[in-house]
Amino acid sequence: MDNRSKVVMATMFGMLVAVVLTGPTPVSAQDAASNAPKAAVDEPVPKFDATYLSNADNIKVGQAVWAKQCRHCHGSSAYPGKAPKLSPGGLEPDFIFDRVTNGFRGMPSWSAVFTLEERKAVTAYIKSTSFSP
Ligand code: HEC
Repeated sequence: MDNRSKVVMATMFGMLVAVVLTGPTPVSAQDAASNAPKAAVDEPVPKFDATYLSNADNIKVGQAVWAKQCRHCHGSSAYPGKAPKLSPGGLEPDFIFDRVTNGFRGMPSWSAVFTLEERKAVTAYIKSTSFSP
């Protein structure tokens, strides 16, 4: 084997060792976390009681949120398959609020778009008798 071949062999061996030692690039915890839906931090977990849910002002604010950002996916005129039609009777307020705040798969997170009050209000609107998708 001439010197040039030895250099080539040594280089290849070195690369092999480097790959074996470092292994596949690990996904850092931070990368994994950045793919997850963003949770709203530093805010109290809201309590939904009958007084809050039936308050006309809350429902009105929630209706505006719905018209602005929810109807085009969940509304009766949204094209089929875009998002499920909501069946509020079977959804707990806490669940609705969590989906709105944190998102889930095709459902975007709205914590950076709507205030806590707006996210609570849209929950009240969905649970109200005036809800009209
Ligand atoms: C870009 C389209 C889109 C927009 C805009 C959107 N959603 Fe959704 N939403 C989805 C999809 C898709 C799902 C189903 C996610 C899944 O379960 O895989 C969903 C799920 C939900 C659910 C859970 C339903 C269930 O039965 O599990 C609720 C509640 C909800 N959305 C409320 C809202 C509200 C309130 C807004 C407005 C702030 C909104 N969504 C805006 C697409 C959207």
